[in-house]
Amino acid sequence: MKKKWWHDKIAYQIYPKSFLDTNGDGIGDLRGIISKLDYLKELGIDIIWLSPIYQSPFVDQGYDISDYYKIAREFGTMEEFDELLEETKKRGMYVLMDLVVNHCSDRHEWFQKALADPYGKYAEYFHFVKGKDGKEPSNYRSYFGGSAWEPVPGTDLYYLHMFAKEQPDLNWENPELREEIYKMINWWLDKGLAGFRIDAIINIKKDLDFPSFEPDGPDGLVSCVKMVEEVEGVGEYFEDIKRSTFEKYDAFTVAEVFNMKEDELSEFIGDNGHFSTMFDFSAHTLLQGEKGWYNARKLSFKEWRDTIFDAQKKAQGKGFLSNIIENHDEPRGASRFLPEHAQNEAGKKMLATTSLLLRGIPFIYQGQEIGMTNCRRNDISEYDDISTKDQYQEALRAGCSTIQALEICYENSRDNGRTPMQWDGGKGAGFTESAPWLALNPNYTEINVAEQESRPDSVLSYYKALTALKKSDEYKETFTYGEFVPAYEDKDGIFAYHRIWEDGTDRRRQDILVAANYGTEPCTLELGAPDSERTGIKALLSNTGREKEREEQAASTGCITLESCEAVVLCI
Ligand code: GLC
Ligand code: CA
Repeated sequence: MKKKWWHDKIAYQIYPKSFLDTNGDGIGDLRGIISKLDYLKELGIDIIWLSPIYQSPFVDQGYDISDYYKIAREFGTMEEFDELLEETKKRGMYVLMDLVVNHCSDRHEWFQKALADPYGKYAEYFHFVKGKDGKEPSNYRSYFGGSAWEPVPGTDLYYLHMFAKEQPDLNWENPELREEIYKMINWWLDKGLAGFRIDAIINIKKDLDFPSFEPDGPDGLVSCVKMVEEVEGVGEYFEDIKRSTFEKYDAFTVAEVFNMKEDELSEFIGDNGHFSTMFDFSAHTLLQGEKGWYNARKLSFKEWRDTIFDAQKKAQGKGFLSNIIENHDEPRGASRFLPEHAQNEAGKKMLATTSLLLRGIPFIYQGQEIGMTNCRRNDISEYDDISTKDQYQEALRAGCSTIQALEICYENSRDNGRTPMQWDGGKGAGFTESAPWLALNPNYTEINVAEQESRPDSVLSYYKALTALKKSDEYKETFTYGEFVPAYEDKDGIFAYHRIWEDGTDRRRQDILVAANYGTEPCTLELGAPDSERTGIKALLSNTGREKEREEQAASTGCITLESCEAVVLCI
């Protein structure tokens, strides 16, 4: 595998609207981000991914872009953005923007011109398609509910929107559109961006016949993802984008890819893959209900662990995955993946340990480092997210009561990850001095940065220790390139793996065991006889401060006992 500049990096996702408000309008802004760069540096962050900050009507919170060359005025100015780039460079950090090019906003100039002249040049930038028998061209349901087709006023045409109707899909078949997009990407890269997180990109290839499929719901519609799954040839677009843009800049790209076809991993993230890396959503995907959030599955510990292990094994020798616990589209990982008895600081540290030391690029989502949790709301009107509103209605239609539907939103809503960052325990959580755009999670009085900074045994302090260990000169090579080898898979509640690195030239070998007990009972693991060439077992980190104790136990008995919610990292 060719070494790349980003292989050993740790990334952090900022959701700008909820990060830090510095001008008192209740909305996070670029100034806020600039003022927290030292905080991020101290946390061990190298790469910062900003969710969209472009001009937008915010129907889908910035994932509906009305001008790709402008910064949303809510967030600040281009000068401030340049300053942000400058300040990150000074600190040896990198910035990724979000690249949202499957669709734009219906307020974008292209779409406005297309509506004004539905048979003209700009209509070709979108999918304007003649209806069939006075109805939609096909029976697709958009990802956010309802038909994926919207009438073009004054015509018998419809335009395609796989997400909200305010997010018309762009026509990638049109070379002129592709050129416009490449020009824009290169313009940002010329500014000094390190790369992009690439939104919903698997959707850009359409079957231009737009065939209808067997309905998958009582509404007579079928999820538009069906068309994406059936159509071939998206890879050609990806290669074209790469050659025309990213490759020239040695840019880092991380793709949001669901529904990749089997065995395409090397094509996507291999040495010469379409992208540098892509997110591992395997565990998150398993939790998606077939019909919607209301029939989301419960995941057993074993299924969750095995899914992650499978993804790790598949990527090994092919490329690097990007590992996440949560993001702006997912509920908080601490609420979702930790069993009830582990929903505490020890549990949150344990989850961090087993996730951050996997093979791949860790992406920490804002607030994860202090263990922010899901947030309960009393009424659907308290939610902002477009998808939550749709899923709530879906649940009601399926026969859930309002109380049940709210519970479903509590467990699944994208707003769980979007509540403002909890900086301190004062009014406004240190996020804002006025009313926040989205209500705070009331637990900010207990869970916040200020409190955790003052405490060496906090979740935040532990994240710092964890990132420092991953990047330490002594172990970096192993954590970056070391093989992933699952361990103790037959032990109930145990999440354990080795990272093993061998340097062929001087026969140096490092074997690091990451082991955690997600169960309720203590569990003893036999470490096996120490290798004669090894100098002994060293505990590199423990989430419960038991480094010494575990080292001594290992030395005298060849075993370690993990208490419930205990995680340990051993060099063996
Ligand atoms: C991606 C984004 C999500 C957005 C959607 C449409 O999935 O992460 O937030 O709603 O694309 O752009
Ligand atoms: Ca603001």
